[in-house]
Amino acid sequence: MTLRERLDEARRAVRARAALVPEVGLVLGSGLGALADAVEGPDAIPYAEIPHVPVPTVPGHTGRLILGRLEGRAVAVLQGRCHLYEGYSAEQITLPIRLLAALGARTVVVTNAAGGLSREFHSGDLMIIADHINFSGTNPLVGANDETLGPRFPDMREAYDPALRALAEAAAREERLPVRTGVYVGVLGPSYETPAEVEMLVRWGADAVGMSTVAEVIVARHAGLRVLGVAAITNAIRRAGAAPAPVGHEDVLAAARAIAPRLARLIRRVVRDLPS
Ligand code: HPA
Repeated sequence: MTLRERLDEARRAVRARAALVPEVGLVLGSGLGALADAVEGPDAIPYAEIPHVPVPTVPGHTGRLILGRLEGRAVAVLQGRCHLYEGYSAEQITLPIRLLAALGARTVVVTNAAGGLSREFHSGDLMIIADHINFSGTNPLVGANDETLGPRFPDMREAYDPALRALAEAAAREERLPVRTGVYVGVLGPSYETPAEVEMLVRWGADAVGMSTVAEVIVARHAGLRVLGVAAITNAIRRAGAAPAPVGHEDVLAAARAIAPRLARLIRRVVRDLPS
């Protein structure tokens, strides 16, 4: 079966259950799923009921597609995601992004939990992603390219849409939410970084590190979606004057859940203010 055929099957399965055509897709990362509860008139479809959509195996990721309205706008929410470290291929974990595009979305907002590499960053910060470094060891576009889905060699110079970033910064000001801006480096995981790796990633120019997002953004650009990315900084890896704190998935989830209400405010404002 080709990627196009798998995608068409997934789209048909969703269309058999919900007619809403989303303007915007939202991807809610580790511990950040609560925003999905704000969706009005929701049609919630478990990933397990959509052919070819992989099911998350890690705590903190629910695994549902929710179609409905947020701030009056038609949205499709991916509540929970799959990661490469779960053993899925890059093509599998990004099928949900292609599905958003196939359902009609033109914009996608991608969120994640990330470790702060910049000395300026604290646990609890929100970071608008300006750019990324793909250090995951793979690329979701490896293999034959289907020109009907996107170009063989997609341009990644402005992967994170400058106009959407400006909109998010304005939204943050209006909501009085402090935000940072920076570069996200996507690693494979699931082991956290060694001190030597942390130093390397910092020298590369990364401000935050996480185990998701980059494959999704590559596919989103391939599919012609405009992208906004927001990272929730759950642990400050190199905070000035502090010994490196141990990090564990439970701490990351707890920190993400504490940040989630602020992230939700930011995203709702962005969705509300998106030009149609
Ligand atoms: N490293 C990698 N991924 C992460 C981290 C981290 O410190 N925190 C949350 N996701």
